[in-house]
Amino acid sequence: MEYAISHTALPKLKADCLIIPLSSASSLPESLPDETRETVEAFIKAGDFSGNKGQMAWLHQPAGVAASRLLLVGCGDKTELDGLTFLKLLGRVSKTLQGGPAKHAVWLLDTLTVNKDLQWQVREGTRVTEEAAYRFDLYRSKTPKAASLKKWTFWHQAGDAGLKKASKVGKAVAAGSALARDLGNLPPNDCYPEYLAGRARELGREYEKLSVKIISQAQAEKMGMGAFHAVAKGSTREGCLIVMEYKGASGAPVSLVGKGITFDTGGISLKPGANMDEMKYDMGGAASVFGSVKTVCELKLPIHLVAVVAAAENMPDGGATRPGDIVKTLSGQTVEILNTDAEGRLVLCDALTYVQQKHKPHTVIDIATLTGACVVALGSHAQAVYSNNDELGEALLEAGRTTGDRGWPMPLWEDYQSQLDSPFADMQNIGGPKGGSITAACFLHRFARDVKWAHLDIAGTAWTSGGKEKGASGRPVPMLTRYLINLAEQG
Ligand code: BES
Ligand code: MN
Ligand code: ZN
Repeated sequence: MEYAISHTALPKLKADCLIIPLSSASSLPESLPDETRETVEAFIKAGDFSGNKGQMAWLHQPAGVAASRLLLVGCGDKTELDGLTFLKLLGRVSKTLQGGPAKHAVWLLDTLTVNKDLQWQVREGTRVTEEAAYRFDLYRSKTPKAASLKKWTFWHQAGDAGLKKASKVGKAVAAGSALARDLGNLPPNDCYPEYLAGRARELGREYEKLSVKIISQAQAEKMGMGAFHAVAKGSTREGCLIVMEYKGASGAPVSLVGKGITFDTGGISLKPGANMDEMKYDMGGAASVFGSVKTVCELKLPIHLVAVVAAAENMPDGGATRPGDIVKTLSGQTVEILNTDAEGRLVLCDALTYVQQKHKPHTVIDIATLTGACVVALGSHAQAVYSNNDELGEALLEAGRTTGDRGWPMPLWEDYQSQLDSPFADMQNIGGPKGGSITAACFLHRFARDVKWAHLDIAGTAWTSGGKEKGASGRPVPMLTRYLINLAEQG
């Protein structure tokens, strides 16, 4: 969709729909022409609109404005709206309009008090409006009709040059989140490790500052990535490490490392059948890395970023790892693999070591749909945030609060480490039934002792299960890109 900012007088502003968000507590805005205000007041007085949260009412051919329709949107009974409620309302309105005839919609910014500034409203507002318009129709034999809505304008009384930039940023983040969702939604027969490698190469051709390197499964094995190889070798699809380096600045890079299990059967420790199809999303961490790279490239951020995706398919064939196998990781530490379904930490630990050895990053953040235990602990609203550095952990949590893509802090205490003790190797790959998300994080911590590191367990947030809304969510692209934009602004 196309986004614009306008302060053209409303009697002159041509549009198919003027959206007027209204709370039942506040009076009609001064910015509306008198005639329009009278029409709306009469409508409200007649009982057709109360302002209840989520209520929507249409008025056709309204007096006083050039637009052909008004859409009144109920915002509840508070005089000031919090940011997240504002975004939810915008998303719902955008979804509603996707199904209607309007081609150009205008959102009035001045009718509501929101506890965020206008820049934020336009930036995050553009993002959620665009995210709500997302569709995934690639696999339908008849392409469904495209939405009529093509243009979205944020209107406010005074001109403000900063808002155009804010809208651009929001759109770039939405583009990253859409890429993450596309990759997540692709079926696992088409989206396999080398397919992801191809998509990375494509990005490398698209953006000048981005270079892409692929480490094949055989090369990874030769280099000593025994843990990564132990997962990849059970599939006829070759695994690979995908390295995308974006050079918008010199100096030590920041690094993102994504879990890219394109399908997780559990391996020999086979998963139960119910909902196993959802394990196509087990590359959600990798998808969010791809999406963040895209946003960074679109915004030409002045940062140095090294993104690594550990891509493999976890399958149970004759070459697959057995429970009890012991492997040597790239770090030199050995791992007894007691459960082949705890494969995410195995591919990630070698990717973490690789990026530290090769690129000497100042900060490493890994992102993974790592544990079912995380879904039990936090549900689907917050992703788990672990860090060995309080400042980094807080920076990610803050990026989450700012965008609504929220995280919640989790402990990385040494007390948990003994759950990973193995009688035969340096460690085992599972920590028992207690604190499953925490012990998984503690496993990874053993491979990130000497660097500022954070780990996001996104098992509950990367996709929506079942129902009509089933699909990849694009999270945590908003959190990650906000963190990176803040980093760029700090210089
Ligand atoms: N990909 C799964 C984690 C997962 C489960 C994500 C459900 C989203 C929803 C991961 O590879 C896995 O299987 N983890 C195991 C670890 C266990 C064997 C220690 C789990 O969570 O059961
Ligand atoms: Mn698994
Ligand atoms: Zn997995």
